[in-house]
Amino acid sequence: MYLKHLSLTNFRSLTRLDIELPRRVVLLVGSNAQGKTSVLEAIYFLAAFTSLQTHVDRQIVNFHEAKNPLAVTRLTADYQRGKIKQRIEARLILEPSGVNGQRLRKEILQNGVKKQASDVMGNFNAVIFVPQMSQIIEGEPDERRRYLNLALAQTVPTYARLLSDYHQALTQRNALLKALYERSGDANQLQVWDEALVRLGAQIILHRIQAVQEIERFASRIHHELTRGTEVLRLAYEPSYDPLPKPEMQLGLKLDTPIDRSGLKLGEIQDGFLSRLKSLRSEEISRGVTTIGPHRDDLRFIINRADVSDYGSRGQMRTTLLALKLAEVEWMQERTGEWPVILLDEVMAELDINRRADLLKYVGKSEQVLFTTTDLSLFTPEFVEQAEIWDVSGGVVTPRK
Ligand SMILES: Nc1ncnc2c1ncn2[C@@H]1O[C@H](COP(=O)(O)OP(=O)(O)OP(=O)(O)O)[C@@H](O)[C@H]1O
Ligand SMILES: [Mg+2]
Repeated sequence: MYLKHLSLTNFRSLTRLDIELPRRVVLLVGSNAQGKTSVLEAIYFLAAFTSLQTHVDRQIVNFHEAKNPLAVTRLTADYQRGKIKQRIEARLILEPSGVNGQRLRKEILQNGVKKQASDVMGNFNAVIFVPQMSQIIEGEPDERRRYLNLALAQTVPTYARLLSDYHQALTQRNALLKALYERSGDANQLQVWDEALVRLGAQIILHRIQAVQEIERFASRIHHELTRGTEVLRLAYEPSYDPLPKPEMQLGLKLDTPIDRSGLKLGEIQDGFLSRLKSLRSEEISRGVTTIGPHRDDLRFIINRADVSDYGSRGQMRTTLLALKLAEVEWMQERTGEWPVILLDEVMAELDINRRADLLKYVGKSEQVLFTTTDLSLFTPEFVEQAEIWDVSGGVVTPRK
């Protein structure tokens, strides 16, 4: 798929942007702090309905505009998916609330009709790579869950809804556990939330098992190519409720031995998860939280049998991340039949000359790619020749003639 038209109002420093996009490579060029990354962030927002830079949506509302009692940020994308033209629009409305407060309301529209974000996700797909994403490898497990969730939500149509229902059930269950601890809740209710948690959670686990396995296949191939055959990258999904026994408990098995969970059936996972919750019940009541489930899952990256987060060099982390992101692109294409729009922020500067060439080769297959850079000379003249160049300055984007 590819974007045909992008229109932004009050998105960060981009107060007004209305631009046609070509179905090929766009290079956004400009000095620091001019709004290049913001353009990519805006496009990604229309795919994920969340910002990659911040978990706080109000930060993307232009801060001069936000001083008004009523402020509106609008993002609209017209895009082509297969033969079909579509439109997605997101509105962030900052409005007065209470005595002196403001609240933020988010509206999502697909082809003019208001919808839930979880029902629209997956219609317009984008994969983004920004330097700060090394947090996926170096950061806490929630960064990796977020990565997996956002990739899955764009690719598997039911996933976003599943995840939001799971979190609702989790919140209710935690509230009840707390109440039971304080001797005020109804213990019979717990069975209801256990069942909801298990029904939704098992589906999430199964999707994650499949996704990690499929993404790993692409990522290890790409990583192998990027490192000229010197390194083997593996992804290891670590479910907090693990339907299989832990390898530590299997005598003689090394910790980094790959675990194959691909044969597991939904029913098996549900049954095991439910009985595990039962055995943890008194502990969970005394702690007032749900201690196992997809909300505590993790993902590990392993190169030549060593964990990249613990032992990887800078360069290895960068290459792992690049392989992971390129794998995400190919995985989405394989699963959905459509290339996602690829958004690459300052990637060239971070790579050596061989890897720059590899990257240009990989993204060359897709339909539309946007790069940001402060320095056009990082790209080969042939590549620049066939790309469209946009100059970005002071929040204004001007296509070069
Ligand atoms: N909510 C906001 N309202 C207005 N301006 C904002 C807002 N958020 C960020 N900015 C401004 O946008 C600019 C940064 O934009 P962006 O990160 O897109 O720049 P960039 O061109 O990618 O720069 P760099 O080359 O340094 O990465 C900064 O000047 C910042 O102050
Ligand atoms: Mg930037």
